Amino acid sequence: MKMAEVIQTADWKAEKHVPVIVAPESVKAGEKFVVELSVGKEIAHPNTTEHHIRSIRLYFKPDAGKFVYEVGSFEFSAHAESADGPNKGAALTEPTAHAVLKLMGSGTLLAVAYCNIHGLWESSQAIKVEA
Ligand code: FE2
Repeated sequence: MKMAEVIQTADWKAEKHVPVIVAPESVKAGEKFVVELSVGKEIAHPNTTEHHIRSIRLYFKPDAGKFVYEVGSFEFSAHAESADGPNKGAALTEPTAHAVLKLMGSGTLLAVAYCNIHGLWESSQAIKVEA
């Protein structure tokens, strides 16, 4: 079995688990830009002690290279757990993160989100880098 067989995908506008990547279509080489990552942008995903998004990881695969780079790994750790019981805690992390990065060449941003009961979901977006 391969990871690709257990990572699901769909259109993020129709499937609440798919990570949404908001990034420019093109950037200048070596110039900082922001990538926003989230789950549930169009259709909210539950955020409870029993059912929530635990992480989103962002990768970059350059067109000119064979290997993928991990850009960032974002953990969402508070889901209203409490000594008084589930869903009674004082903190609830929303599954949104921002990465700031610079690229030297065009490629593809890839994101993988993890739901504690519905597994792994991916999406990708091409990004053009101008010299
Ligand atoms: Fe889920």
